[in-house]
This record gives sequence, structure tokens and C-alpha cells, in this order.
Amino acid sequence: METKDVVQRDSFGSKLGIIAAVAGSAVGLGNIWKFPYITGVYGGGAFVLVYLICIALIGLPIVLSEFVIGRKAQKNAIGSFKKLAPGTLWFVPGIMGLVAAFMILAFYGVVAGWTLEYLFKAITNSFVGKNPADLEGMFGGFISQLARPIFWQIIFMGLTCWIVLAGIKGGIEKASKLLMPVLLVIIIILDIRAVTLPGASEGLAFLFKPDFSKLTGEGMLNALGHAFFSLSLGMGTLITYSSYMSKKENLATTAVQVTIADTGIALLAGIAIFPAVFAFGIEPGAGPGLVFITLPNVFQQMPGGYFFCILFFLLLAVAALTSSISILEVVVAYFVEELKLARRAATIMAASAITIMGIPCSLSMGVWSKVKFMDKTFFDWLDFIASNVMLPLGGLLIVAFVGWYLGREKTEAEVTNEGELKAGYLPLFMFLAKFVAPVVIAIVFLHGLGLF
Ligand code: PHE
Repeated sequence: METKDVVQRDSFGSKLGIIAAVAGSAVGLGNIWKFPYITGVYGGGAFVLVYLICIALIGLPIVLSEFVIGRKAQKNAIGSFKKLAPGTLWFVPGIMGLVAAFMILAFYGVVAGWTLEYLFKAITNSFVGKNPADLEGMFGGFISQLARPIFWQIIFMGLTCWIVLAGIKGGIEKASKLLMPVLLVIIIILDIRAVTLPGASEGLAFLFKPDFSKLTGEGMLNALGHAFFSLSLGMGTLITYSSYMSKKENLATTAVQVTIADTGIALLAGIAIFPAVFAFGIEPGAGPGLVFITLPNVFQQMPGGYFFCILFFLLLAVAALTSSISILEVVVAYFVEELKLARRAATIMAASAITIMGIPCSLSMGVWSKVKFMDKTFFDWLDFIASNVMLPLGGLLIVAFVGWYLGREKTEAEVTNEGELKAGYLPLFMFLAKFVAPVVIAIVFLHGLGLF
């Protein structure tokens, strides 16, 4: 049994591949699509500040907590809890993570499908000569169509399924290790173009000058939820991935590196988008279309814009893919290791069910956009419940598990690689894990739901 597990689980190959996989999971649509769009909706600077505080005080300790759990147990998310805390209810966050994975991938696949359509539009030079209003109309026209967004969603989910099935995640992760720096370079080039546009300073002020009068409880809950979403936290992705890490890896350093890279890319994406939003007179709170409406304007104002635009949407789709496979993997690893399903059947079943759940998400951008419950569409509800409810609650349980159940000694043994490394940060980490992170999550959560 053990051998079979190892064979099935070890699909990353080298240690470098695993780090690339973790970074690939974290960096995705969350950084480039969702962060700018919700920053716009929740008013800019103050939201960004709360987000950064959530990353540092809550996100980073939970990244390390997931690493400790996964590498110690060397199992999937649910199996890890069962192994470290046998006979208890601690596996519940693992189950929650499974449900969250289903919900997140349902809408993630839809948005990733949009990037494929935009890649297609970029190749066919469809943005040329269009003004900001045209580009806004183009986006609105596309997402409200019935079949086309679903077509791209199915293509994207098919790709995700195929990569997980073919067991070539390692290859994809290594390729993305080369490709993601290219994406970073394009974003920096976009940043330079954006901040030199007339009127750009207004956008930078929007992003970095906190106006606390715009901050609401709902905004704070979204900042917290997005810290989880962006770092792939709270649903066992990082438990699953770190279960493949070598016992020599420095978990704390890796956690810090991934967190800085992920946050840095989100901020750089914001710097590319908001100056342009103000320069072109786009509404910052335009919603999920913000990136798709704004950036084609910027590419048009750039020498070589045609090629940069193609490259950008191509790499964005790749970034989305390295995230989506990490989400699907949570579900598949559970089906295979706990329910003993064959990997092939598990992958196809999970991907199909998730794709079907994504269809109403896609429709809620168009024909079903008026179908709302408490002012939220189906798409909004999936995102809200998964990102702002399940991930923070899962994260709370994960960090409390390390702080209170595993405790200082076992955690120290794991983060120091059994005494090999120094861990001067340990008292601070334990304090954050036991008290700060759980309490802050609970307060923001209750406040955001209007219960506190
Ligand atoms: N972190 C990914 C992104 O930013 C999304 C994701 C969420 C991946 C949860 C895995 C788990 O795009």
C-alpha cells in the first residue's frame, strides 16, 4: 500500500520542481485578475493596506503551518490530519478544503477561459484602433454570450484535466519556472508604460494612499479572504504540495520567498492597472472585467504592443493553469488516497463535475446576470463562500492545529529539520499561530458578516 502511494504521489520529481509547483500554485489569476478587481471595488489604498497586514500576520504563518503539517505527515490534506491526529475530528478542515477546491475551480475555470479568448483576440489583432469604451463593450459582449465563454472554459478545464492525468505536472511546473520570470518582465514593462501615462499619478494614489473612509467590514473580509486565495491557503493545497518536499528543505525560507513573490506580483499588477484605469477614464470598480478592459488599452500605447499582448495573455493562461492543476490535485489526491479510486477515473470525474458547476457561473455573467440572491449572482456566491468563508475558517483550524495540537516541540523539530537549522523566529511564530492569527481571523470574519 505504502509503495503504491509513493508511486502515485511522487509526480513532481525533483525538489526544485516542488518549489516551482508551490509558487506556480500561488501565482495566478488571483494576483493579476482578482487582486486589482477587488481593490477597485473596495476603494483602493486602505483595502490594500489591510490585505498586506493579513498577508504578513496571518498568511505567512499559515503558509508555514501548512508546510509543517504536509511535510511531517507526507500525505494528502485529509490523510495528513488523520495521521498526525488519529481518532480526532481534526480532519474536518481537510474536508472543508475539498469542498472549497470544487467551488474555487468552478469559477476559476471560467475566468481562465476568458484569458484564452483574450489570447485569441490578441493573436487576431482585435484590439487595434479600439478606444476604451469599445474595449469595455467588447468584454461585456463576450462574457454575456451563451456558448463562447463556456467553450473556452471547457477547453481550459480539459487542459487542466489532461495535465493532471498525464502526470506531467512536473514538466509544466518546470516550464513555468522559465515562463513566470518572463511574465514578471512583461508586467514590469507594463508598469513602466502605465506610470508614464498622463494622469497616472491619480492611479498610484488610489492604490497606495489609504482612505479609511472607504473601508468597510465587507472590504476587510474580502482582503482577508483574498490573502488566503492568493497564497493558495486554507484548503490543503500547500499541505498536499509540501508533503512532497524533501526533509532538507528550509520550510521557513521557502514560506517567506513564496509569500514575497506572490504579494510582489499582485502589487506590480496593480501598478500596471490603476494608473491606466485613471488615464483612460475607466471605472475602478468596474468589477471582474477590469484587467481585460484596461490592459488592451495600455498595449496599444506601447511599441511592440501586439507581441507583448499575445505574450501576456499566453503567460497569464499558463499561470492560471499551474494554479488550476494544484486545485484539481487536492480533489484527486483525496479520491485516490482516501476513497481508493483509480487516478484516471478520479481525475475525469472531478474535472467533469467541476466544469458542470462552472457553467452557471459563466451564465451568471450574461443570461442569468439578473438571477441574484441577496444581491449576489451564482458566480459571486461561489467566490464569496469559498474565498471568504471556507478558506479563512480552514486557515483558522490549520493554524490552531499547529499552535495548539502539534505544539512547540513538534513544530520546532519540523521547521529546524530535526535540529539542523536555527529557528530564532519560533517564539514569534508560535505566538502568531496560537493567538494572533486565530483571533484576527475570527474578528474580521464576524465583523465582515455583520455579526460583530
Ligand atoms: N492562488 C491561486 C491564484 O492566485 C488560486 C488558488 C486558490 C490556487 C486556492 C489554489 C488554491 O490564482
